[in-house]
Amino acid sequence: MSEQRDQFSSKIGFILAAAGSAVGIGNLVGFPVAATKNGGGAFLLIYALFVAFICLPVMLAEMGLGRKAQKNPLGSYLALGSGKPFWSFSGFLAVLTPFMIAIFYMVITVWIFGYLYHAAIGDLDKLADPSYFGQFVNDYSFVGFLVAVTLIVNVILMGGVRQGIEKAAKFLMPALFVMLVLLVIFVLSLDNAVLGIQFYLVPDFSKIDGSVISGALSQAFFSLSLGMGILITYGSYFSRKDDIVTSGKLVAITDTAVAFTAGLMTLPAIFAINPDTDPNSLSDSSVSMIFSFFPQIFIALEASIGYLGASIAATIFFLLAFVAAITSLVSIIEVPTAAIIQQRGTSRKKALSVMCAATTILTIIAATSFGFIPAFTEFVSYGGATKSVFDVIYDVFYDTILPLNGLLICLFVWWHWRYTSLEQELAEGNPNYPNTFLAKYVRVSITTFIPAILFVVFVNTV
Ligand code: PHE
Repeated sequence: MSEQRDQFSSKIGFILAAAGSAVGIGNLVGFPVAATKNGGGAFLLIYALFVAFICLPVMLAEMGLGRKAQKNPLGSYLALGSGKPFWSFSGFLAVLTPFMIAIFYMVITVWIFGYLYHAAIGDLDKLADPSYFGQFVNDYSFVGFLVAVTLIVNVILMGGVRQGIEKAAKFLMPALFVMLVLLVIFVLSLDNAVLGIQFYLVPDFSKIDGSVISGALSQAFFSLSLGMGILITYGSYFSRKDDIVTSGKLVAITDTAVAFTAGLMTLPAIFAINPDTDPNSLSDSSVSMIFSFFPQIFIALEASIGYLGASIAATIFFLLAFVAAITSLVSIIEVPTAAIIQQRGTSRKKALSVMCAATTILTIIAATSFGFIPAFTEFVSYGGATKSVFDVIYDVFYDTILPLNGLLICLFVWWHWRYTSLEQELAEGNPNYPNTFLAKYVRVSITTFIPAILFVVFVNTV
Protein backbone atom coordinates (compact mmCIF):
# COMPACT_ATOMS: atom_id res chain seq x y z
CA MET A 1 0.00 0.00 0.00
CA SER A 2 1.45 3.37 -0.87
CA GLU A 3 1.31 6.21 1.60
CA GLN A 4 -1.43 8.81 1.64
CA ARG A 5 0.03 11.76 -0.30
CA ASP A 6 1.22 14.57 1.86
CA GLN A 7 0.77 18.25 0.87
CA PHE A 8 2.16 21.66 1.78
CA SER A 9 -0.08 23.21 4.42
CA SER A 10 -0.11 26.66 2.86
CA LYS A 11 1.14 28.82 0.05
CA ILE A 12 3.80 30.31 2.28
CA GLY A 13 4.95 26.80 3.19
CA PHE A 14 5.44 26.00 -0.47
CA ILE A 15 7.12 29.33 -1.21
CA LEU A 16 9.65 28.91 1.60
CA ALA A 17 10.35 25.30 0.64
CA ALA A 18 10.80 26.14 -3.04
CA ALA A 19 12.86 29.21 -2.19
CA GLY A 20 14.95 26.97 0.07
CA SER A 21 15.61 24.80 -2.93
CA ALA A 22 16.40 27.72 -5.20
CA VAL A 23 18.62 29.64 -2.79
CA GLY A 24 21.86 27.70 -2.73
CA ILE A 25 25.59 28.00 -3.09
CA GLY A 26 25.01 29.42 -6.55
CA ASN A 27 23.32 32.49 -5.09
CA LEU A 28 25.86 33.28 -2.42
CA VAL A 29 29.04 33.15 -4.44
CA GLY A 30 28.49 32.04 -8.05
CA PHE A 31 26.05 34.79 -8.97
CA PRO A 32 27.84 37.81 -7.41
CA VAL A 33 31.20 36.84 -8.87
CA ALA A 34 29.73 36.13 -12.31
CA ALA A 35 28.03 39.53 -12.25
CA THR A 36 31.18 41.40 -11.24
CA LYS A 37 33.33 39.77 -13.90
CA ASN A 38 30.78 40.11 -16.65
CA GLY A 39 29.64 43.70 -16.77
CA GLY A 40 28.17 44.40 -13.30
CA GLY A 41 24.78 46.07 -13.66
CA ALA A 42 24.62 45.03 -17.31
CA PHE A 43 24.83 41.37 -16.27
CA LEU A 44 22.22 41.93 -13.55
CA LEU A 45 19.84 43.35 -16.11
CA ILE A 46 20.28 40.44 -18.53
CA TYR A 47 19.96 37.96 -15.69
CA ALA A 48 16.71 39.55 -14.49
CA LEU A 49 15.28 39.46 -18.01
CA PHE A 50 16.13 35.76 -18.31
CA VAL A 51 14.48 35.00 -14.98
CA ALA A 52 11.28 36.77 -16.01
CA PHE A 53 11.04 35.84 -19.67
CA ILE A 54 12.61 32.40 -19.97
CA CYS A 55 12.82 30.78 -16.56
CA LEU A 56 9.41 31.76 -15.17
CA PRO A 57 7.43 30.06 -17.99
CA VAL A 58 9.50 26.86 -17.61
CA MET A 59 8.95 27.03 -13.88
CA LEU A 60 5.17 27.33 -14.30
CA ALA A 61 5.20 24.41 -16.74
CA GLU A 62 7.03 22.20 -14.24
CA MET A 63 4.75 23.14 -11.36
CA GLY A 64 1.63 22.77 -13.49
CA LEU A 65 2.65 19.33 -14.71
CA GLY A 66 3.34 18.11 -11.18
CA ARG A 67 0.11 19.40 -9.74
CA LYS A 68 -1.98 18.05 -12.58
CA ALA A 69 -0.49 14.57 -12.31
CA GLN A 70 -0.11 14.62 -8.50
CA LYS A 71 3.00 12.56 -9.03
CA ASN A 72 6.79 12.56 -8.99
CA PRO A 73 8.45 13.51 -12.33
CA LEU A 74 8.64 9.93 -13.66
CA GLY A 75 5.06 9.21 -12.61
CA SER A 76 3.90 12.55 -14.07
CA TYR A 77 5.40 11.89 -17.49
CA LEU A 78 4.08 8.31 -17.41
CA ALA A 79 0.59 9.39 -16.40
CA LEU A 80 0.20 12.30 -18.82
CA GLY A 81 2.50 11.03 -21.59
CA SER A 82 0.18 8.16 -22.65
CA GLY A 83 3.00 5.68 -22.16
CA LYS A 84 4.92 6.98 -25.20
CA PRO A 85 8.56 5.89 -24.84
CA PHE A 86 9.92 9.39 -25.52
CA TRP A 87 7.98 10.90 -22.61
CA SER A 88 8.71 7.95 -20.34
CA PHE A 89 12.38 8.52 -21.06
CA SER A 90 11.96 12.24 -20.26
CA GLY A 91 10.48 11.24 -16.91
CA PHE A 92 13.34 8.86 -16.25
CA LEU A 93 15.85 11.66 -16.97
CA ALA A 94 13.93 14.03 -14.70
CA VAL A 95 14.58 11.64 -11.80
CA LEU A 96 18.09 10.52 -12.71
CA THR A 97 19.33 14.12 -13.04
CA PRO A 98 18.52 15.21 -9.48
CA PHE A 99 19.96 11.98 -8.16
CA MET A 100 23.30 12.60 -9.87
CA ILE A 101 23.37 16.32 -9.06
CA ALA A 102 22.61 15.39 -5.44
CA ILE A 103 25.89 13.46 -5.37
CA PHE A 104 28.14 16.34 -6.25
CA TYR A 105 26.08 18.83 -4.23
CA MET A 106 26.41 16.48 -1.27
CA VAL A 107 30.20 16.52 -1.57
CA ILE A 108 30.23 20.33 -1.45
CA THR A 109 27.71 20.45 1.42
CA VAL A 110 29.84 18.02 3.44
CA TRP A 111 32.88 20.25 2.90
CA ILE A 112 30.90 23.30 4.00
CA PHE A 113 29.83 21.44 7.12
CA GLY A 114 33.48 20.56 7.79
CA TYR A 115 34.54 24.19 7.38
CA LEU A 116 31.68 25.31 9.61
CA TYR A 117 32.87 22.92 12.28
CA HIS A 118 36.49 24.11 12.04
CA ALA A 119 35.53 27.80 11.99
CA ALA A 120 33.33 27.29 15.06
CA ILE A 121 36.03 25.56 17.10
CA GLY A 122 38.53 28.32 16.38
CA ASP A 123 40.55 26.80 13.52
CA LEU A 124 40.15 29.79 11.23
CA ASP A 125 43.93 30.21 10.90
CA LYS A 126 44.15 26.63 9.63
CA LEU A 127 41.33 27.15 7.10
CA ALA A 128 43.02 30.28 5.79
CA ASP A 129 46.24 28.42 4.97
CA PRO A 130 46.24 28.09 1.16
CA SER A 131 47.34 24.44 1.29
CA TYR A 132 44.64 23.39 3.76
CA PHE A 133 41.80 22.67 1.34
CA GLY A 134 43.92 20.12 -0.56
CA GLN A 135 44.55 18.20 2.67
CA PHE A 136 41.03 18.60 3.96
CA VAL A 137 39.36 16.99 0.94
CA ASN A 138 41.51 13.88 1.33
CA ASP A 139 41.10 13.55 5.07
CA TYR A 140 39.19 10.69 6.69
CA SER A 141 37.16 13.22 8.68
CA PHE A 142 35.10 13.51 5.46
CA VAL A 143 33.26 10.35 6.45
CA GLY A 144 32.26 11.79 9.82
CA PHE A 145 30.95 14.99 8.26
CA LEU A 146 29.15 12.94 5.60
CA VAL A 147 27.36 10.91 8.27
CA ALA A 148 26.26 14.13 9.99
CA VAL A 149 24.93 15.72 6.80
CA THR A 150 23.17 12.50 5.77
CA LEU A 151 21.51 12.33 9.18
CA ILE A 152 20.28 15.92 9.00
CA VAL A 153 18.84 15.44 5.49
CA ASN A 154 17.16 12.18 6.49
CA VAL A 155 15.66 13.56 9.68
CA ILE A 156 14.06 16.34 7.63
CA LEU A 157 12.87 14.08 4.82
CA MET A 158 11.55 11.41 7.19
CA GLY A 159 9.01 14.00 8.38
CA GLY A 160 7.51 14.10 4.89
CA VAL A 161 6.28 17.22 3.14
CA ARG A 162 4.42 19.13 5.81
CA GLN A 163 6.18 18.00 8.97
CA GLY A 164 9.60 17.70 7.35
CA ILE A 165 10.41 19.82 4.30
CA GLU A 166 7.96 22.62 5.08
CA LYS A 167 8.72 22.80 8.79
CA ALA A 168 12.47 22.89 8.17
CA ALA A 169 12.09 25.61 5.54
CA LYS A 170 9.91 27.72 7.82
CA PHE A 171 12.67 27.71 10.39
CA LEU A 172 15.77 27.73 8.19
CA MET A 173 14.81 30.28 5.55
CA PRO A 174 14.10 33.15 7.97
CA ALA A 175 17.37 32.25 9.74
CA LEU A 176 19.14 32.45 6.38
CA PHE A 177 17.70 35.90 5.64
CA VAL A 178 18.74 37.19 9.07
CA MET A 179 22.31 35.86 8.76
CA LEU A 180 22.65 37.28 5.27
CA VAL A 181 21.45 40.73 6.32
CA LEU A 182 23.75 40.70 9.37
CA LEU A 183 26.74 39.87 7.19
CA VAL A 184 25.81 42.54 4.64
CA ILE A 185 25.57 45.21 7.35
CA PHE A 186 28.87 44.09 8.83
CA VAL A 187 30.70 43.99 5.50
CA LEU A 188 29.35 47.37 4.39
CA SER A 189 30.83 48.92 7.52
CA LEU A 190 34.36 47.97 6.42
CA ASP A 191 36.65 50.46 4.66
CA ASN A 192 36.65 50.32 0.86
CA ALA A 193 33.43 48.31 0.84
CA VAL A 194 31.97 50.77 -1.60
CA LEU A 195 34.55 49.81 -4.23
CA GLY A 196 33.06 46.33 -4.36
CA ILE A 197 29.57 47.77 -4.75
CA GLN A 198 30.82 49.81 -7.70
CA PHE A 199 32.22 46.81 -9.55
CA TYR A 200 29.06 44.89 -8.80
CA LEU A 201 26.50 47.48 -9.83
CA VAL A 202 27.93 49.92 -12.36
CA PRO A 203 26.97 48.57 -15.78
CA ASP A 204 29.63 47.91 -18.40
CA PHE A 205 27.87 46.82 -21.56
CA SER A 206 31.15 46.32 -23.44
CA LYS A 207 31.66 43.07 -21.50
CA ILE A 208 28.46 41.51 -22.83
CA ASP A 209 29.04 38.89 -25.51
CA GLY A 210 27.57 35.52 -26.48
CA SER A 211 29.29 33.58 -23.76
CA VAL A 212 28.26 36.06 -21.04
CA ILE A 213 24.67 35.85 -22.24
CA SER A 214 24.59 32.07 -22.26
CA GLY A 215 26.38 32.00 -18.88
CA ALA A 216 23.69 34.28 -17.43
CA LEU A 217 20.97 31.98 -18.71
CA SER A 218 22.60 28.85 -17.30
CA GLN A 219 23.12 30.58 -13.97
CA ALA A 220 19.46 31.67 -13.83
CA PHE A 221 18.23 28.22 -14.84
CA PHE A 222 20.33 26.48 -12.24
CA SER A 223 19.57 29.01 -9.55
CA LEU A 224 15.81 28.56 -9.90
CA SER A 225 16.26 24.76 -9.60
CA LEU A 226 14.82 24.16 -13.07
CA GLY A 227 15.32 20.95 -15.03
CA MET A 228 15.87 18.94 -11.86
CA GLY A 229 12.37 17.60 -11.36
CA ILE A 230 12.16 19.54 -8.10
CA LEU A 231 9.35 21.87 -9.11
CA ILE A 232 7.37 19.01 -10.68
CA THR A 233 7.63 17.18 -7.36
CA TYR A 234 6.88 20.22 -5.20
CA GLY A 235 4.03 21.17 -7.58
CA SER A 236 2.51 17.76 -6.91
CA TYR A 237 2.35 18.63 -3.21
CA PHE A 238 0.16 21.64 -4.00
CA SER A 239 -3.57 21.57 -3.45
CA ARG A 240 -5.94 22.41 -6.30
CA LYS A 241 -7.11 25.54 -4.49
CA ASP A 242 -3.63 27.03 -4.34
CA ASP A 243 -2.41 29.64 -6.75
CA ILE A 244 0.68 28.23 -8.49
CA VAL A 245 1.25 31.27 -10.64
CA THR A 246 1.63 33.78 -7.82
CA SER A 247 3.67 31.29 -5.80
CA GLY A 248 6.02 30.67 -8.73
CA LYS A 249 6.53 34.39 -9.24
CA LEU A 250 7.29 34.88 -5.55
CA VAL A 251 9.83 32.06 -5.56
CA ALA A 252 11.59 33.59 -8.59
CA ILE A 253 11.60 37.02 -6.93
CA THR A 254 12.90 35.67 -3.62
CA ASP A 255 15.68 33.70 -5.27
CA THR A 256 16.78 36.67 -7.35
CA ALA A 257 16.58 39.04 -4.38
CA VAL A 258 18.75 36.74 -2.27
CA ALA A 259 21.31 36.42 -5.07
CA PHE A 260 21.35 40.20 -5.45
CA THR A 261 21.73 40.75 -1.70
CA ALA A 262 24.50 38.16 -1.51
CA GLY A 263 26.44 40.37 -3.93
CA LEU A 264 26.26 43.16 -1.36
CA MET A 265 28.07 40.83 1.02
CA THR A 266 30.53 39.07 -1.26
CA LEU A 267 31.96 41.92 -3.34
CA PRO A 268 32.44 44.52 -0.61
CA ALA A 269 34.19 41.83 1.47
CA ILE A 270 36.60 41.06 -1.36
CA PHE A 271 37.46 44.71 -1.98
CA ALA A 272 37.61 45.67 1.68
CA ILE A 273 40.46 43.23 2.16
CA ASN A 274 42.28 44.19 -1.01
CA PRO A 275 41.11 47.38 -2.72
CA ASP A 276 43.40 46.64 -5.69
CA THR A 277 41.69 43.34 -6.52
CA ASP A 278 41.31 42.88 -10.25
CA PRO A 279 37.72 41.65 -10.73
CA ASN A 280 38.84 39.53 -13.68
CA SER A 281 41.21 37.62 -11.44
CA LEU A 282 38.37 36.24 -9.30
CA SER A 283 37.88 32.53 -9.73
CA ASP A 284 34.90 31.29 -11.73
CA SER A 285 34.65 28.33 -9.42
CA SER A 286 32.34 28.74 -6.44
CA VAL A 287 34.26 25.91 -4.77
CA SER A 288 37.58 27.71 -4.80
CA MET A 289 35.88 30.98 -3.77
CA ILE A 290 34.18 29.41 -0.75
CA PHE A 291 36.97 27.19 0.48
CA SER A 292 40.12 29.07 -0.43
CA PHE A 293 39.20 32.68 -0.85
CA PHE A 294 36.69 33.34 1.92
CA PRO A 295 38.74 31.99 4.84
CA GLN A 296 41.50 34.37 3.76
CA ILE A 297 39.07 37.26 3.74
CA PHE A 298 38.00 36.43 7.27
CA ILE A 299 41.52 35.98 8.62
CA ALA A 300 42.43 39.37 7.18
CA LEU A 301 39.75 40.84 9.46
CA GLU A 302 41.76 39.73 12.47
CA ALA A 303 43.71 43.01 12.42
CA SER A 304 40.56 45.07 12.94
CA ILE A 305 38.18 42.86 14.95
CA GLY A 306 40.52 40.33 16.56
CA TYR A 307 40.73 36.56 16.09
CA LEU A 308 37.53 35.87 17.98
CA GLY A 309 35.57 38.44 15.95
CA ALA A 310 36.96 37.07 12.69
CA SER A 311 36.08 33.53 13.75
CA ILE A 312 32.53 34.53 14.60
CA ALA A 313 32.11 36.23 11.21
CA ALA A 314 33.51 33.14 9.45
CA THR A 315 31.25 30.84 11.46
CA ILE A 316 28.17 32.87 10.51
CA PHE A 317 29.26 32.80 6.86
CA PHE A 318 29.70 29.01 6.79
CA LEU A 319 26.46 28.52 8.71
CA LEU A 320 24.71 30.66 6.10
CA ALA A 321 26.27 28.61 3.29
CA PHE A 322 25.34 25.40 5.08
CA VAL A 323 21.70 26.41 5.54
CA ALA A 324 21.53 27.44 1.86
CA ALA A 325 23.04 24.12 0.80
CA ILE A 326 21.03 21.82 3.08
CA THR A 327 17.64 23.20 2.00
CA SER A 328 18.67 22.64 -1.63
CA LEU A 329 19.95 19.16 -0.87
CA VAL A 330 16.68 18.23 0.83
CA SER A 331 14.69 19.31 -2.23
CA ILE A 332 16.85 17.41 -4.67
CA ILE A 333 16.91 14.16 -2.69
CA GLU A 334 13.14 14.36 -2.29
CA VAL A 335 12.74 13.85 -6.05
CA PRO A 336 14.12 10.30 -6.36
CA THR A 337 12.68 9.51 -2.93
CA ALA A 338 9.18 10.52 -4.08
CA ALA A 339 9.69 8.48 -7.25
CA ILE A 340 10.60 5.33 -5.28
CA ILE A 341 7.67 5.80 -2.88
CA GLN A 342 5.11 6.21 -5.66
CA GLN A 343 6.45 4.00 -8.40
CA ARG A 344 7.38 1.09 -6.15
CA GLY A 345 4.60 1.58 -3.62
CA THR A 346 7.02 1.51 -0.68
CA SER A 347 7.04 3.47 2.54
CA ARG A 348 8.98 6.72 2.92
CA LYS A 349 11.24 5.00 5.41
CA LYS A 350 12.23 2.26 2.97
CA ALA A 351 12.69 4.70 0.11
CA LEU A 352 14.93 6.87 2.26
CA SER A 353 17.01 3.87 3.37
CA VAL A 354 17.66 3.01 -0.27
CA MET A 355 18.53 6.62 -1.09
CA CYS A 356 20.73 6.90 1.95
CA ALA A 357 22.78 3.83 0.99
CA ALA A 358 23.06 4.88 -2.65
CA THR A 359 24.04 8.50 -1.99
CA THR A 360 26.56 7.54 0.70
CA ILE A 361 28.41 5.14 -1.58
CA LEU A 362 28.38 7.45 -4.59
CA THR A 363 29.30 10.52 -2.54
CA ILE A 364 32.34 8.71 -1.17
CA ILE A 365 33.32 7.68 -4.70
CA ALA A 366 32.91 11.26 -5.94
CA ALA A 367 34.83 12.58 -2.94
CA THR A 368 37.82 10.35 -3.67
CA SER A 369 38.27 12.15 -7.00
CA PHE A 370 40.56 14.75 -5.47
CA GLY A 371 43.73 12.73 -5.27
CA PHE A 372 42.68 10.02 -2.84
CA ILE A 373 42.08 7.39 -5.52
CA PRO A 374 44.16 8.19 -8.63
CA ALA A 375 41.91 6.18 -10.96
CA PHE A 376 38.94 8.38 -9.97
CA THR A 377 40.99 11.56 -9.94
CA GLU A 378 42.11 11.01 -13.53
CA PHE A 379 39.04 9.18 -14.70
CA VAL A 380 38.71 10.12 -18.39
CA SER A 381 40.01 12.68 -20.84
CA TYR A 382 37.89 14.82 -23.10
CA GLY A 383 37.84 18.36 -24.36
CA GLY A 384 41.61 18.49 -23.92
CA ALA A 385 41.51 17.94 -20.16
CA THR A 386 41.74 15.07 -17.72
CA LYS A 387 38.55 14.81 -15.72
CA SER A 388 37.75 13.23 -12.37
CA VAL A 389 34.57 11.34 -11.54
CA PHE A 390 33.33 14.52 -9.85
CA ASP A 391 34.03 16.60 -13.00
CA VAL A 392 32.21 14.09 -15.19
CA ILE A 393 29.06 14.18 -13.06
CA TYR A 394 29.24 17.97 -13.11
CA ASP A 395 29.81 18.29 -16.85
CA VAL A 396 27.22 15.74 -17.90
CA PHE A 397 24.34 16.45 -15.57
CA TYR A 398 24.80 20.01 -14.53
CA ASP A 399 25.99 21.59 -17.73
CA THR A 400 24.29 19.48 -20.36
CA ILE A 401 21.28 17.58 -19.05
CA LEU A 402 19.73 20.51 -17.15
CA PRO A 403 18.91 22.55 -20.29
CA LEU A 404 17.87 19.31 -22.00
CA ASN A 405 15.33 18.63 -19.25
CA GLY A 406 14.04 22.19 -19.63
CA LEU A 407 13.73 21.64 -23.36
CA LEU A 408 11.87 18.34 -22.85
CA ILE A 409 9.26 19.90 -20.61
CA CYS A 410 8.60 22.64 -23.16
CA LEU A 411 8.27 20.02 -25.90
CA PHE A 412 5.97 18.01 -23.69
CA VAL A 413 3.69 21.00 -23.20
CA TRP A 414 3.89 21.94 -26.87
CA TRP A 415 3.56 18.57 -28.61
CA HIS A 416 1.72 16.32 -26.24
CA TRP A 417 0.05 17.73 -23.17
CA ARG A 418 -1.00 20.85 -25.09
CA TYR A 419 -0.65 24.43 -24.06
CA THR A 420 -4.36 24.78 -23.24
CA SER A 421 -4.12 22.01 -20.64
CA LEU A 422 -1.27 23.81 -18.93
CA GLU A 423 -3.24 27.04 -19.00
CA GLN A 424 -6.27 25.34 -17.46
CA GLU A 425 -4.12 23.86 -14.76
CA LEU A 426 -2.54 27.21 -13.95
CA ALA A 427 -5.98 28.81 -13.80
CA GLU A 428 -6.94 26.49 -10.92
CA GLY A 429 -6.52 28.68 -7.88
CA ASN A 430 -6.04 31.74 -10.11
CA PRO A 431 -9.16 32.04 -12.32
CA ASN A 432 -8.03 35.30 -13.86
CA TYR A 433 -4.76 33.84 -15.12
CA PRO A 434 -5.82 33.18 -18.76
CA ASN A 435 -6.57 36.91 -19.22
CA THR A 436 -3.22 38.12 -17.98
CA PHE A 437 -0.24 39.28 -20.01
CA LEU A 438 1.81 36.49 -18.45
CA ALA A 439 -0.59 33.84 -19.78
CA LYS A 440 -0.44 35.30 -23.27
CA TYR A 441 3.32 35.49 -23.08
CA VAL A 442 3.70 31.90 -21.82
CA ARG A 443 1.34 30.68 -24.55
CA VAL A 444 3.57 32.11 -27.29
CA SER A 445 7.02 31.66 -25.80
CA ILE A 446 6.83 28.10 -24.54
CA THR A 447 5.88 26.80 -27.96
CA THR A 448 8.45 28.83 -29.90
CA PHE A 449 11.59 30.57 -28.78
CA ILE A 450 12.09 29.18 -25.26
CA PRO A 451 12.55 25.60 -26.53
CA ALA A 452 14.66 26.96 -29.39
CA ILE A 453 16.98 28.79 -26.99
CA LEU A 454 17.27 25.77 -24.68
CA PHE A 455 18.03 23.60 -27.68
CA VAL A 456 20.90 25.91 -28.66
CA VAL A 457 22.28 25.88 -25.10
CA PHE A 458 22.05 22.09 -25.00
CA VAL A 459 23.78 21.59 -28.36
CA ASN A 460 26.50 24.07 -27.37
CA THR A 461 27.39 22.22 -24.18
CA VAL A 462 27.42 18.85 -25.96
N1 PHE B 1 19.46 26.60 -6.84
C1 PHE B 1 20.54 25.92 -6.20
C2 PHE B 1 21.75 26.81 -6.07
O1 PHE B 1 21.70 27.95 -6.50
C3 PHE B 1 20.85 24.77 -7.05
C4 PHE B 1 20.42 23.50 -6.51
C5 PHE B 1 19.13 23.26 -6.12
C6 PHE B 1 21.33 22.53 -6.38
C7 PHE B 1 18.80 22.08 -5.60
C8 PHE B 1 21.01 21.34 -5.86
C9 PHE B 1 19.73 21.14 -5.45
O2 PHE B 1 22.76 26.43 -5.53
